[in-house]
Order: sequence, then structure tokens, then C-alpha cells
Amino acid sequence: MIRVNNLVKKFHTEHERVEAVRGVSFEVVEGAFYTLLGPSGCGKTTILRCIAGLEHPDAGEIWLGDTIVLSSDKHITVPPERRGIGMVFQSYAIWPHMNVFDNVAFPLQEGPKRLSHAEIRERVMKALEMVQLERLERRDATQLSGGQQQRLALARALVGEPKVLLLDEPLSNLDAKLRGEMRLELRELQRRIRITTLYVTHDQIEALSMSSKIAIMREGSIVQVGSPREVYLRPYNSFVASFMGSTNLIPGRLSVDHNLTFVETEIGTFRCIKTTDLHSGDQVLLAIQPVNVIVHEQLKQNSNVVKGTVELAVFSGDYLECEFKVGPYAISARQHSSLDLRRGQEVYVELPTEHCIAVAMDF
Ligand SMILES: Nc1ncnc2c1ncn2[C@@H]1O[C@H](COP(=O)(O)OP(=O)(O)O)[C@@H](O)[C@H]1O
Ligand SMILES: [Mg+2]
Repeated sequence: MIRVNNLVKKFHTEHERVEAVRGVSFEVVEGAFYTLLGPSGCGKTTILRCIAGLEHPDAGEIWLGDTIVLSSDKHITVPPERRGIGMVFQSYAIWPHMNVFDNVAFPLQEGPKRLSHAEIRERVMKALEMVQLERLERRDATQLSGGQQQRLALARALVGEPKVLLLDEPLSNLDAKLRGEMRLELRELQRRIRITTLYVTHDQIEALSMSSKIAIMREGSIVQVGSPREVYLRPYNSFVASFMGSTNLIPGRLSVDHNLTFVETEIGTFRCIKTTDLHSGDQVLLAIQPVNVIVHEQLKQNSNVVKGTVELAVFSGDYLECEFKVGPYAISARQHSSLDLRRGQEVYVELPTEHCIAVAMDF
């Protein structure tokens, strides 16, 4: 278990003060795969480094299991090597002049515990087996492929039998295909050994496909926490909605009538779903993903349907990528490629209620 309470970290450089982490709290339950997701510079690495003990926070409390490893109030700071953490960084920093076995053995030889040769051998081989590198123990680290180097870095993080694993964008140096494979492999490994994992990435797909829970960050704060489905399908605000994928955002005003939620926009009033605490009269955005927009070629008189014209219809094999002009807005839609639309054609654009989310303005 990892628990972080009101963590604050500021950096002072010659020219500026950066509040990298602004009072962040979250909890990673035992065995979970928890992801901090957010754009570059939002404070993800700094949080990981604070948990590892590599950075000294200005305020806050950090618990690992039932041990408090940092408390600014109680003046507690447990040194990094006593925190029981395994960590893999973006540049996984394997040692090129050592072979596979020695790379993994290194933390044990340097670590606080004195282990016999036999014990070291046993632990290293166990870690190598976990990542399926046991047959390459004598190979030079430089002769490994990108994916194998990645697995080596993991074995090295696991060899000390840590209680928690911290992973900082560990897949970002791999090519796209390998990254996809490693996503699944990493998640499988984590499930198998059931180690509590805190993962950091700026890549939505990685976060969605691997995590049991995602915390979305912006400028040093967490803006929403939920399962991959929750954050993707039920964003609280426009930042989350647009960060999670290309989303149509139409400005409007919220109105609530007998428990039904509507957004009144320049192109009509749409019945929507509310995901967070919003009130009648609030300025909001109607968010809907392109895959959820339905287009009708024949006249359709229905609620949540507006008339528009085809501005763009690009056939791309699996899909037809469309853009419809509705009033002053361009609404993106991804349709089945069997649909054949002409530019300038009149259509009826349906924004189904179950996919229309009223989100708070946040830009
Ligand atoms: N050692 C440092 N000195 C000064 N500023 C830093 C330092 N480390 C990080 N920062 C700043 O803190 C903010 C958060 O950085 P970081 O945690 O690395 O973000 P992320 O990992 O989400 O990309 C950034 O504005 C970054 O420039
Ligand atoms: Mg980072």
C-alpha cells in the first residue's frame, strides 16, 4: 500500500520558483496498478522521486504499508535504501560494462543486507526468471534488444524483493510495436507477482490499458481519479475530456429540470449526463467523443439531433473520419466506412444522451 497525504514540493532555481507538486493526496491499495497520468511537466516524476526518497518534499506525509517513511510535521525521513522500493526510470540505466547477471546482482551487493554468494545467485536467478531472461544471464547487457533491456531493468528493480514498484515512463524509449507488447507483458508480470505498482506516464493508451486506477494530473495537482472506464467515459472537466482523447466540446449553459440535465447551446438544447457537481446556470461544455456521434442521411426529428452539413469525410479503411458543420461548430465523428458521404451534403447529426457529458469548464 502507498499513501500520500498533502504532498508539496517546490523547486527554487536562480530565476524562478516552481511549485511542482501542490498538495497531492492519493492511495494505492495493496496489489493495485495505479497510474499518474498527465502532460509533461505536471509533477509526476517529482512525486515518484519523493516516494523513493530521492527528493525532499516541503510538506506532506508518505506511508508505505504501515510504515511512515516521510512526515514533514513529525520530522521523519527514512533514507531511500530502507524504503523497500524497486524503481525503473525512463532511461533504464543498465550498466553497459556488466553482463545480465551482474546488472541484476549489483543492487544486492551494494544493498544494506550482506548476502552470501549462494543467496545472491538464488535471488538474481529468481528475478531473471520473473522477466524470462534466465537463459541470457552471461550475455553482455549491450547485446540485448530494447525489450530485453527493459526487462533487465525490471529484474534489477525486483531483485531486492521490494514492497512497491515505481515505474517512470519505462516504455517511452521503445518503438511503437514493442511498446504495445511490453504493456501487456508488464501488466501480466505485475498481476503474477501481485506487487503494488505506481506507474507514471503521459500516454493515455498506456494508462487506460494497464491501470486498475488512474489519477489524472495537471500542473502539480490531481484533477480526477477513477478506473480507466470512469476517467475516459465520465470526465469531470474539459481538461480531462480533451486529454483522454479527441473530444468534441460545445460550450453552453446547464439547466436541470426534474432531475434531467440539459445543456443549452448555440445549436440547440441537448439532454446530457452530469458527472460532477454542477448546477443550473453554470457555464459548461458538452463533451462527446467522435465515435459516439451518429449521423443520419434522412430527416430525423428527434431530441439531441441537429441539422448539419458534411465538411469532411475521409475514408481510412476501418473508419470514415467526418467533420460536420453545425452552426459555428465543426463536430468530428468517426463512422463506419460503409457510409458514403459527399462534401456539402445535408445530414442530421445525433448526439446520444448517454454519451453527452456536461463537463466543467477548465482551460
Ligand atoms: N531539480 C529541479 N529543479 C528545478 N525544477 C524542477 C526540478 N525537477 C523538476 N522541476 C520542475 O518541476 C515541474 C514538474 O517536473 P516533473 O515532475 O519532472 O514533471 P513530469 O514528470 O510530469 O514531466 C516542472 O516544471 C519541472 O521543470
Ligand atoms: Mg517525468
